[in-house]
Amino acid sequence: RAAPRTRALLSSLIQHIHDFARENALTVDEWMAGVDLINQAGRMSTDRRNETQLLCDILGLESLVDSITFSSSSSSTPPTASAILGPFWRKDAPRLDMGASIVQPGSVESDEHTHVYGTVTDYATGEAVEGAQLDVWQTAPNGLYEQQDEGQPDMNLRGRFTTGRDGRYSMYCLRPTSYPIPHDGPGGKLLRALDRHPMRPAHIHFIVTVPAYQPIITQIFDRRDPYISNDAVFAVKDSLVVDFQPLEGDPNAQFELLYNFKLAKV
Ligand code: DHB
Ligand code: FE
Repeated sequence: RAAPRTRALLSSLIQHIHDFARENALTVDEWMAGVDLINQAGRMSTDRRNETQLLCDILGLESLVDSITFSSSSSSTPPTASAILGPFWRKDAPRLDMGASIVQPGSVESDEHTHVYGTVTDYATGEAVEGAQLDVWQTAPNGLYEQQDEGQPDMNLRGRFTTGRDGRYSMYCLRPTSYPIPHDGPGGKLLRALDRHPMRPAHIHFIVTVPAYQPIITQIFDRRDPYISNDAVFAVKDSLVVDFQPLEGDPNAQFELLYNFKLAKV
């Protein structure tokens, strides 16, 4: 027998799709154009490129599902806000020692290396969270994640760090840059049909996980970015907008950022 939740979702989906077709007097050609777009996205999707998810993101669906699933807390010190995963996370990023850099030696030219550090705490008690894994990923200055870019070594600009007893983390990465979501396929077609640009504001992705706490999938965004209030995939939340600070006296970085993660018990 079909699961009740699945049945409910499907009947609602059918109702809304029928309403959509009726209200707009959808033609056969228009419906087929939609089928074509989804087929193209499917043919194009691989381990390295999730075009169908990209279509959902352009339509604002992933961001809507995120805001429904993680409705913000009314606490004055709420847990860290979530944000969409996006299509570029990879599993099994390298495990790195605390204080290491996710920038592989010689992989990119940048004078915007950044020391990112802070704590992982229990949002309700303020206690340090030991054994929290931070899975981090970002693009190179050319706007490409390593799996999109033959010029970067495997797993460049990705890493996993685990907090010790003090709940602290510390890592080096790049100050992120704004860049376009891939727009050479169906996603680009959709954006052009909507008269929209493909740019995302500069961001760094994090997934913070530890047993007994709710995992946080999130991104932090650079306030100075021109696209900060105009993200092509609608992921920015105020509490995730940060200020990178110029850093002096550290031979490994020109900027720093203090960012604390607050977790909620399961
Ligand atoms: C999307 C998300 C990202 O983080 C990104 O870097 C590119 C695209 C997306 O939601 O489609
Ligand atoms: Fe991204």
